[in-house]
Amino acid sequence: MKKIIIINGPNLNLLGKREPNIYGSLTFVEFFDTVKEKYPNVALEHFQSNIEGEIIDKIQSCGFNYDGIILNAAAYTHTSVGIGDAVKAIETPVVEVHISNTFSREEFRHQSFIAPNAKGVVLGFGLQSYELAIQSFL
Ligand code: DQA
Repeated sequence: MKKIIIINGPNLNLLGKREPNIYGSLTFVEFFDTVKEKYPNVALEHFQSNIEGEIIDKIQSCGFNYDGIILNAAAYTHTSVGIGDAVKAIETPVVEVHISNTFSREEFRHQSFIAPNAKGVVLGFGLQSYELAIQSFL
């Protein structure tokens, strides 16, 4: 069974409440439950933190023994050299995900410290971006 973890960064714990016009009205837990049901043959985990160092710790601890990491580093995508370096340091392939189309938004969201070392990037498809990333590992 493939072992895949979704790592979500800052403010993604507020999905459902946060700017629903951009991020939708479903909570991540609601979405995650339906996805887990849909992919019973994948060992799917979810981790969320608002703290940069905790995200780095998680990337490191999953980075040598998981089949895939799906990473939505949220705002840290655009600022964190440390998370970018963590992605570079590990062996597990990382797919970068965004709910919104970051390229249709403010210019500071066009920069990613993760993309250069990611296996691929999925963005702009709402929460379905996560599902497309799961499929990319199957
Ligand atoms: C986001 C896009 C980021 O620019 C933003 O800071 C987020 C969410 C997305 O999933 O669309 O928090 O990563």
